[in-house]
Amino acid sequence: MRKKIVAANWKMNMTQAESARFVESLVLDIGDITDVEVVIVPPFTAIAKVMEALGTSQSIKVGAQNMHWEPNGPFTGEISAALLRDLLVRYVVLGHSERRTLFRETDEIVNRKVRAAHEATLRPIVCVGETLEQRDKGNVGKILSIQLRGSLKDLNEKELQETVIAYEPVWAIGTGRNATPQQAQEAHAFIRRTLREMSDEATADRIRIQYGGSMKPENARDLMTQPDIDGALVGGASLDPRSFAQIVKAARDEK
Ligand code: 13P
Repeated sequence: MRKKIVAANWKMNMTQAESARFVESLVLDIGDITDVEVVIVPPFTAIAKVMEALGTSQSIKVGAQNMHWEPNGPFTGEISAALLRDLLVRYVVLGHSERRTLFRETDEIVNRKVRAAHEATLRPIVCVGETLEQRDKGNVGKILSIQLRGSLKDLNEKELQETVIAYEPVWAIGTGRNATPQQAQEAHAFIRRTLREMSDEATADRIRIQYGGSMKPENARDLMTQPDIDGALVGGASLDPRSFAQIVKAARDEK
């Protein structure tokens, strides 16, 4: 049985003051939920503030939105896994489509980062997903397979089990147009079959696959009741503590 994981990807939003207010509200609302793993992924500048606001509340974890693959050195403007671990960060989102497209991150770069994350005992959330053009051409499986095999290259079974995959169809990100539960389930099942080919059945069955792309309280339950959808990576709707809390509760209600 896979524990659902719901993460708030704030992208380039939220000041320290806004982050603290968000966390205070979220803890009051869902601080006692332990059957869903909840992760807040702030910009680097708000990580310490989120940690402070969480205080002793152990149930909510913190992630980062990106990192460099080297542990330290002359990489102006970059942040390493070691620096994130220093802040007690547990997760790191890697290979988000915004990084792949706007910052030219290839599967090879994502793979370097994924391996560096595991070496530092950070758990990567690895994003994959097709564009609308690729979907229209019937290439969803091909694209997902290339991204998965490239980004997760040379990971052992334990590392794979500790990796979270986020299926984020590019056409659904920030557009208000989510994948239908059937479209998402089809892609998630394909991802799990690919993971099975890359490792073995027991390993693939343990890997959690999140859905991301215009997830909202109104569509969360229908998506997360699909057999291979193990949670969500939420963008826009994660900026409001009430709507994010509703999505967390939707992950739980279906059990
Ligand atoms: P939206 O929820 O705003 O569509 O963003 C999804 C996303 O990119 C999460 O990483």
